[in-house]
Amino acid sequence: MSRLKTFAGSVIQAALAPHAVDRYLELVDPMVTWTEIRGRVTSVVRRTDRTVTFVVDPTRQFDGFKAGQFIQLSVVIDGVRQSRCFSPATSEHDRRLEFTVTAHDDGFVSAYLRDNLKAGDVVGLTQAAGTFALPARRPRDIRLISGGSGITPVLSMLRTLVDEGHRGTVELLHFCRDEADNPYRAELSLMAEQRGVNVRYVYTRAGGGYFTADHLPELGDAAFACGPAPLLAAVSQHYADRGAADLLAIEEFTPPATVAADADATGTLTFTESSATAENDGRSILDQAESAGLFPESGCRMGICFSCTAVRKAGCTKNLLTGETDSEPDQHIQLCVSAPVGDVAVEI
Ligand SMILES: Cc1cc2nc3c(=O)[nH]c(=O)nc-3n(C[C@H](O)[C@H](O)[C@H](O)COP(=O)(O)OP(=O)(O)OC[C@H]3O[C@@H](n4cnc5c(N)ncnc54)[C@H](O)[C@@H]3O)c2cc1C
Ligand code: FES
Repeated sequence: MSRLKTFAGSVIQAALAPHAVDRYLELVDPMVTWTEIRGRVTSVVRRTDRTVTFVVDPTRQFDGFKAGQFIQLSVVIDGVRQSRCFSPATSEHDRRLEFTVTAHDDGFVSAYLRDNLKAGDVVGLTQAAGTFALPARRPRDIRLISGGSGITPVLSMLRTLVDEGHRGTVELLHFCRDEADNPYRAELSLMAEQRGVNVRYVYTRAGGGYFTADHLPELGDAAFACGPAPLLAAVSQHYADRGAADLLAIEEFTPPATVAADADATGTLTFTESSATAENDGRSILDQAESAGLFPESGCRMGICFSCTAVRKAGCTKNLLTGETDSEPDQHIQLCVSAPVGDVAVEI
């Protein structure tokens, strides 16, 4: 049956080329798709000034996720599809996906979602990805550490463990500005009371201060931390000082430090599929392509999700994360973290 379905799909895809079947189906109903994953927003709440929490019911193509992983969620803003990575906060045993997005002051997608998202909207989704995840064999004594929006993947881990009736110890240590900035306070307090989970909050702008070794005297068998870079650095140092760096897994939502754009950049950037060109200004190829009026697919914009991968047909590029250069032709590169060095041709 599924082979027949695949065959029929290929025939229809081919017959309708160059437009994908999904382009036609979405005219009828955006939730009826052949290959693409979409999700209908079934509820939206705004528990704090900066956040929006919403539940998405994904289409049948979605394969589920491991607690801690992320998904790329896309929305159309001013006619252009924009994607960003978000980590579901739901248990991995739950088919529905709950997201909590924290709006950044100058954040394009996060502020749009916080201000505009409503029940009934349809969003684009990808399969889940990422290595920051609960291992299949659950450690017994687990520490979860989060800061601000970093609560989502660790809450997913916590909810998963609670669903599984985890018999070991689970401790959550969450840092945020103050009580009013904590979207999950009510639920976490209930979990602490009813399910015996040890939950502690540190309100950094209400006298709580930042992470110190005193916050985590017992390291546990495994620890998962997600939050801003300074919190992750302090927690990593704590585990390293105790000779237990291998017990800790971390994830950062913020873009990592990159090599500065080359102010003396020269050469021409040629986009071979669109015949567009740009005078190289040293920024990432993704930024330069967008400035040239192109919209290559992208997601995290920080070298994590690989959705911006394209073939470098000719020329030399620099990896903005490592500073390394490479000029072998016909190689796949990540446009968001690659900058041209001289003349470069990319298949966009
Ligand atoms: C694996 C992964 C999982 C994530 N999960 C979540 C989640 O569950 N909830 C959530 O709210 N966010 C999450 N994020 C962050 C999210 O993908 C976006 O980066 C964030 O919402 C900002 O997007 P934007 O379009 O609003 O900002 P942009 O318009 O892209 O950027 C605006 C400005 O904000 C800066 N900026 C971008 N992202 C961040 C950031 N994360 N922190 C600080 N400054 C930033 C940019 O450098 C820029 O100056 C995750 C990111 C990753 C990589
Ligand atoms: S946009 Fe995610 S790796 Fe480039």
